[in-house]
Amino acid sequence: QWSVENYLGQLQEELRGQAGDKPILLLISGGVDSSVVAALLLQTFPPEQVHLMYIDTGLMRKDESVEIGAALRKLGARNLYLIDAEERFLSALAGVTDPEKKRHIIGDLFISVQEEEIASRLSGDYLLAQGTLYTDLIESGHGSGGKAKSIKSHHNVASPLVKKKREAGLILEPLAALYKDEVRDLGRLLGLPEEIVGRHPFPGPGLGVRVLGEVTRERCDILREADAIFIRELRTAGLYDAIWQAFAVLLPIQSVGVAGDSRAYGNVVALRAVTSTDGMTADVYGFEPAFLRTVSAAITNGIPQVGRVVYDCSGKPPATIEWE
Ligand code: XMP
Repeated sequence: QWSVENYLGQLQEELRGQAGDKPILLLISGGVDSSVVAALLLQTFPPEQVHLMYIDTGLMRKDESVEIGAALRKLGARNLYLIDAEERFLSALAGVTDPEKKRHIIGDLFISVQEEEIASRLSGDYLLAQGTLYTDLIESGHGSGGKAKSIKSHHNVASPLVKKKREAGLILEPLAALYKDEVRDLGRLLGLPEEIVGRHPFPGPGLGVRVLGEVTRERCDILREADAIFIRELRTAGLYDAIWQAFAVLLPIQSVGVAGDSRAYGNVVALRAVTSTDGMTADVYGFEPAFLRTVSAAITNGIPQVGRVVYDCSGKPPATIEWE
């Protein structure tokens, strides 16, 4: 009989056998998966053996980077490297509007920042741990048989470092046999707080693919505010956990509205909320109209640059969960 408790013991034994006393590096994204791996490593190995690196791309949600640092310290992290790379990401993205180009710029820069930062801290036969899930392998076409073809380019599966470490047998992927809800159960068992374990998935390129069109700090800030209001309202209404993924998107258009006696052009924010079991298909969440009105009012009252809020009511397929 499979249970997460039995699986944890087995997993820890395997990991200890695989790693011995070599240093282990984990790149933290702040999402559920890498947080669970961080907790797992810190409870399986002496904390000095575990190195955690987090790169703040400037494309994260409101307050996320600060919260991640605090959560990792609480987990007992000793070798914690928090890298502020916002400036580098935003300048690389200046003037770029094509979604796949944005993904590639973010993915490539992520890899080079990562390599530079690792090289100054670790060398030799260290292990690389990853929070890869079963579905990540499938969606990126790297899974058994590569059945599902990737539609969007995913940067988090095979960086040169990952390839090198894989060839050398120095990769740890403790979640590779698990689905998302099993990972959440494992996280709970490891004592992670519900805000981390129950967190909605967040794409690697972050707000880079949710600020449609050109990504600037100002537009990221507008989106961060709108997204935080939406999520706050979801939590207040007790709806957060009933939804697989909810977020705001900043559209690349201006729409007319009234400001006093005159016409004013403002930004448009789209809200997305879907239910799903693995992200491969998704249904739109059916909010009460009153809830959407509340969120819309909170966003337009709270953010002067936003004049209109719309709700995305397309399922996947034919739409994808993200807009880009
Ligand atoms: P889509 O938009 O393809 O998303 O329906 C399915 C799931 O994958 C996430 N997603 C990404 N994750 N890099 C990632 O790491 C990406 O480029 C990317 N694009 C989409 C999305 O948030 C959803 O959970």
